[in-house]
Amino acid sequence: MKVLAINGSPRSDAMSKTKMMLTALVEGMREAGASVEVVDLRDKKVQTCKGCMCCWTTSPGVCVIKDDMTKELFPRWIETDFAVYAFPLYHFTINAAMKAFIERTLPVLEPFFITAGKETLHPLRYRHPRVVFLSVAGFPEYSVFDQLSSWARFIYGRFGALTAEIYRPMSEALALPSLKPKADEILDATRRAGREIVERGKVSEQTMSQVTQDIVDDPKLFLQVADIMWKTCIREGISVREFYEKGCIPRPETIKEFSKLMRAGFNPEAAGGMKAVMQFDFRGSREGSCHLTIDGGAISASEGPAEAPDITISSDFDLWMDILCKKADGQQMFLEQKYAVQGDLGLLMRMNSLFGV
Ligand SMILES: Cc1cc2nc3c(=O)[nH]c(=O)nc-3n(C[C@H](O)[C@H](O)[C@H](O)COP(=O)(O)O)c2cc1C
Repeated sequence: MKVLAINGSPRSDAMSKTKMMLTALVEGMREAGASVEVVDLRDKKVQTCKGCMCCWTTSPGVCVIKDDMTKELFPRWIETDFAVYAFPLYHFTINAAMKAFIERTLPVLEPFFITAGKETLHPLRYRHPRVVFLSVAGFPEYSVFDQLSSWARFIYGRFGALTAEIYRPMSEALALPSLKPKADEILDATRRAGREIVERGKVSEQTMSQVTQDIVDDPKLFLQVADIMWKTCIREGISVREFYEKGCIPRPETIKEFSKLMRAGFNPEAAGGMKAVMQFDFRGSREGSCHLTIDGGAISASEGPAEAPDITISSDFDLWMDILCKKADGQQMFLEQKYAVQGDLGLLMRMNSLFGV
């Protein structure tokens, strides 16, 4: 079985969540014995369709534009059993690079009109490969793919070519170190989806529900932390790519934002069954207290002091944010008595493993 997997993300492989998902799907397809070629559209020259319709008249079945589509991609596409269209969701639909590719497959049709039931169609000139849609989106709700799915079903479902639709919301979370175990589950399920497509011609409901499972328990909190990241990028004048490459951490501007970041970055596996209350007393640009309650792998945050904290960290707010964002060395600052700690010092030592922010 031959598969042509087309990646429409303009991002580099290191940044692209489309590529991350596609790589897993392709691994599964290969494990099941398929011969898979992967094409990154960003490396190819695929012009937009000119609308001349010469592929229907003067050069039937062949596009007259001389670019990588005509020379290389269309001939490979027409020979393949499965075409995987992988792309990021842009403006709640297919992105332009992938759409340009699909529009340039027009020579596969003949110009004539035929009627099937209540629908008008163009007949196929050549055999059309079976199609798999794979898309990723930044928003958390699965419903962001509704418009795309409706289109995919309309255009490919009606002549039976649509084999699978694999859609992953909140895809940016797939790359976060603190969410790696969940991301691995999702990628494993995507790999399984690839195997199932080759072996059974469809993806099982169970596999699909694992691909689309929630990656975070609290999407609202995740989005709030994402907003702190955007503010950090704007303030520091860096792109998202630079943010990740430099290993930056979203920098809270308020005590509330600090609490949210700590909750979002909490690593329940590192906490195990521990119980602890950690209090922070801030002074300087932000004055006030908050405390985190860790209990059996769960964490909650509250404003104000705790009744009986196991540890109290008293610090200038900006200094603690510098330590959090690795702009200042926490140990060095402690030795220099730039902040004070009361209570269980062991908790201070465990902070890096407890909070993967
Ligand atoms: C121009 C543009 C438009 C986008 N539109 C949407 C959108 O409508 N809905 C959504 O959930 N995410 C949207 N996103 C976010 C991307 O789908 C998301 O970041 C995805 O992970 C990018 O995939 P990639 O890393 O493979 O490029 C958009 C991103 C860009 C750059």
